[in-house]
Amino acid sequence: MVAMFALREAPPEPVEELIERRYTPPPLPLSALAHGKATPLTKVEADIACALDRARLSHRVGITPDSWQAELLRSDAQQIMLNCARQVGKSSTTATLASHTAIYSPGEPILLLSPTLRQSQLLFQRVKWVLKRLGSDFAELEKDNALSARLSNGSEIYSLPGTATTVRGFSGVRLAVVDEAAFIDDGLMTAISPMLAVSGGRLILLSSPYGKRGFFYREWTEGGDAWQRFIVKASECPRIPAAYLAEERRKLGTFYAQEFECEFLDTVSALFSGKDIDRAFDNDLAPAFDLGLLQEAT
Ligand SMILES: Nc1ncnc2c1ncn2[C@@H]1O[C@H](COP(=O)(O)OP(=O)(O)OP(=O)(O)O)[C@@H](O)[C@H]1O
Ligand SMILES: [Mg+2]
Repeated sequence: MVAMFALREAPPEPVEELIERRYTPPPLPLSALAHGKATPLTKVEADIACALDRARLSHRVGITPDSWQAELLRSDAQQIMLNCARQVGKSSTTATLASHTAIYSPGEPILLLSPTLRQSQLLFQRVKWVLKRLGSDFAELEKDNALSARLSNGSEIYSLPGTATTVRGFSGVRLAVVDEAAFIDDGLMTAISPMLAVSGGRLILLSSPYGKRGFFYREWTEGGDAWQRFIVKASECPRIPAAYLAEERRKLGTFYAQEFECEFLDTVSALFSGKDIDRAFDNDLAPAFDLGLLQEAT
């Protein structure tokens, strides 16, 4: 997908807009501000600054977060939902967030889940990439295999397929990240919720939408204040060219709204639209025909 972006000529976006959307941390140490100049951070200062500000850790990795990414990284909400278009950077940001948790909140497991093990591993690879980029000043991988990793501070990260049975053995979980969450079985969410309630762990669901169905859709629309919600459309991502989006809109028709504008469409296979089904259960609506007449005729 990224390669496709590169092939098309995109009209440049105004630079001020791009800068406004990105987060740049102030120079540290703060005392340097008083003298009107920034000085390089010592290792300890960098460590403290990143501990206090997860967005700064992203900088350290070499990724300047977009403003929504910085807001997500800095959030302390217990439960977060990201409803995002493809390729806006949801997996890489949550990988940085999971790395921060592993480095600065050691001792309790972090679970990375997706509908399939292969997808979980993509996120897991990304977390390990972040940890390696940060280097041994921040994190040392003591054990590193295909399905799990342990840091020298005792933090453990597991990459799991999104089924209820795989998470049942875990307790005291600090953070669970569910990638492609709209595609996950409801059974997994039923298994995760009580586990996190006991440990006080955080839950982050990230996905592009996939129809008006399942846990992700229900919680997005009916979950109320239980969640902090982020919605990021493709047009808001400075790395996705407008010309590419125009072409995709032409090709995809209705599905463009799902893939790029974060809209939950009626499930493709549904015979009736979600709106029609809601109306069928609405007692305030007058019937479409007179039931009395129907009974007389039979
Ligand atoms: N703030 C950023 N600055 C530069 N590059 C970024 C930024 N955020 C993400 N990227 C890059 O954009 C690409 C897509 O990121 P990522 O895989 O996290 O997106 P995604 O939303 O999870 O995509 P998908 O929908 O395909 O799962 C990656 O190459 C990533 O490194
Ligand atoms: Mg992703």
